Amino acid sequence: MLILSCASKLRLLEGMLRRGLPDTLPVYGAVMHVNRGNPAGQEVLVDSWPEFKMVLTRPRREVAWDPSDYFTNLHTAFYRDEGACRALLGNSHAIDWDQAFQIQGLQDGVYENIRDIARARGLEMETYPYRPLLHPDPPAMPQYRPEKGLRLAPVSPAHALLLRDTWMFGENSWSLRYLSRLIRHFPSACLLDPEGTPISWSLTDPLAALTHGYTLPEHRGQHHARAVVGMLVAQLHAHGFPVYTRVLPHNEPSLHTLQCLGFHILPGVFHQLVDFDSQTCTVSISQD
Ligand SMILES: CC(C)(COP(=O)(O)OP(=O)(O)OC[C@H]1O[C@@H](n2cnc3c(N)ncnc32)[C@H](O)[C@@H]1OP(=O)(O)O)[C@@H](O)C(=O)NCCC(=O)NCCS
Repeated sequence: MLILSCASKLRLLEGMLRRGLPDTLPVYGAVMHVNRGNPAGQEVLVDSWPEFKMVLTRPRREVAWDPSDYFTNLHTAFYRDEGACRALLGNSHAIDWDQAFQIQGLQDGVYENIRDIARARGLEMETYPYRPLLHPDPPAMPQYRPEKGLRLAPVSPAHALLLRDTWMFGENSWSLRYLSRLIRHFPSACLLDPEGTPISWSLTDPLAALTHGYTLPEHRGQHHARAVVGMLVAQLHAHGFPVYTRVLPHNEPSLHTLQCLGFHILPGVFHQLVDFDSQTCTVSISQD
């Protein structure tokens, strides 16, 4: 197991992951951010180099210091060889199994591998099967202008409280800190009313995926989310990021909005496995 810290190796890895898209998506997005200032303080592990068979991204210890914050303690996995995947994930130096954490991956088999390794440690991880969506041609996305009196802007750190209070899982000790970090460090967009209050917004995460899309209930059904997503997608595309997200299969309004904007649902499942801090969390964790 190696921690890749050399900038040229990390750039090489980014190129190799790009050639494996879309299976490599979450890992690729994480490595792109690592190579562009590393705002989430992630590190990249491989089983071997340069002929890697397994890549794992995880936050540095000093970033994931809160043992209950499984949103910040975010890992992604991509493998070419099941044996290498199991060996790396089973290595107690790769994942701190005593801490709440989550791991995401898109390729076939990733769910079963992680689940089995967790079970061997006596852990049953919660699993969330998302539909992966990718925009094949961001410049062709239809642009929706905001209605008169409304304006588009990045989400401001001053809006973090509103985002926390409207997030179905915002009642944790860490949720405000987590959202504030996303707002400060990653591209975001919102639609502001004439008083400067957001009525619709979307963030992106350390994997460069769109996340936390939300329109206040009294403003839904007016296509506000389309203008917000349009602004955010333009930013991501301008910086060379893939434009992708994950949505729970029953979230029809969200799937409908994204497909109207030209997103394609990819085959397969975008897996999120979560090891909750069992004392604090028993409910569903995301609105995506
Ligand atoms: C998904 C969501 C962001 C869409 O925002 P929006 O600004 O209402 O988006 P739209 O106006 O384009 O509506 C999308 C679809 O929702 C449905 N819809 C219409 N009116 C609605 C209403 N009053 N309430 C809820 N859904 C409505 C319609 O199917 C609509 O599409 P259509 O107008 O083309 O038929 C919003 O429903 C929301 O905040 N949901 C809760 C959080 C969530 O699920 N986030 C998504 C994470 S991936």
